[in-house]
Amino acid sequence: MRAVVRDAYGGSEVLRVDEVPDPAPGPGEVLVRVRASSLNMADLDILLGRPRVARVFFGIASPRTPGMGVDLAGEVEEVGADVTGLRRGDHVWADVFDHGHSALAERAVAPADALRRIPDGVSFVDAAAVPHSGLLALQVLRSTGSTRPGERVLVIGGGGCVGPFAIQLAKAAGAHVTGVDTGAKAALMREAGADDTIDFTVDDVTRGGRRFDVVIDIADAHGLLPLRRLLARRGRYSLLARRLGSYAEKALLGPVVGATIGARMGTFAWRANSAHQLDEVGRLLAAGAVRPVIDGVHGLDAVPEMFARLAAGDNRGKIVIEP
Ligand SMILES: NC(=O)c1ccc[n+]([C@@H]2O[C@H](COP(=O)([O-])OP(=O)(O)OC[C@H]3O[C@@H](n4cnc5c(N)ncnc54)[C@H](OP(=O)(O)O)[C@@H]3O)[C@@H](O)[C@H]2O)c1
Repeated sequence: MRAVVRDAYGGSEVLRVDEVPDPAPGPGEVLVRVRASSLNMADLDILLGRPRVARVFFGIASPRTPGMGVDLAGEVEEVGADVTGLRRGDHVWADVFDHGHSALAERAVAPADALRRIPDGVSFVDAAAVPHSGLLALQVLRSTGSTRPGERVLVIGGGGCVGPFAIQLAKAAGAHVTGVDTGAKAALMREAGADDTIDFTVDDVTRGGRRFDVVIDIADAHGLLPLRRLLARRGRYSLLARRLGSYAEKALLGPVVGATIGARMGTFAWRANSAHQLDEVGRLLAAGAVRPVIDGVHGLDAVPEMFARLAAGDNRGKIVIEP
């Protein structure tokens, strides 16, 4: 079968599309014919081997797993011994970050209990755009508590892979949503449902005097004191950390800084591929409350070029790959 592989950490230049042996499902595993996958910042992190501490899991000197791709949507082709809940032909999806991250291929193997059924009526392309980034958005939003109708929600970094999902989930809860990103991503944030957008290259939102009930920080570009200025009394802030230092700052000092104005500030513990949350996002997807913003759909051969676009921040929504 054809698969995207690499032998070393590096940029898109280390990627190639190669013929590799078909994977075979072991006991408790399922062979999936991949119909679509999509690119996330996590895929870029796995490609680059960053942060360096993550190489403890992914391979110290070189990647332990040559394959790439965390978002999986496809059809069950074969089930291994002891698999009871799935059968050939079922449409399944998952974030396989913790399960070999090799979905950018014609076939992939995953544990049966990592796979959920794609809701009826949801296409493989839409399904593939969701698991990793959609669940990150759900978890970071949930970490601030329930979003109530009419609350003012700010999504900093609203135009990337996770941001449009965060905007849609907040809108689905009835919030008034403001998205912050480059001006070039304003239309995308509006398409996702943002009521208002701010171009961070022109205006510093932390200095505008506006206050929000909920601040979702995906850009991870500000310190705690400027962020505190954004919060209304009893406001809630949560960080989707991109840097370990920032994670530590917000996790340890966030509660202290927030308490000075009666606000909650902090971060959250990510759980990849949470089954009940994937089902929950699936229901929203099937109901049309969440609609992935898709940059484009490409074949496997385009993957190196698409990684370069992702690294440059040139994508407008999720880049979907149909092997
Ligand atoms: N903490 C955890 O447990 C955990 C788990 C998984 C993933 N992650 C991290 O979560 C991140 C996922 O986010 P993502 O995929 O949505 O990233 P993304 O696609 O890079 O989106 C971030 C967006 O923020 C924009 N931006 C940059 N600086 C900004 C600023 N000062 N103000 C407002 N927007 C700004 C970026 O614009 P440009 O592209 O133009 O710069 C981009 O559009 C990744 O970095 C990943 O490593 C964390």
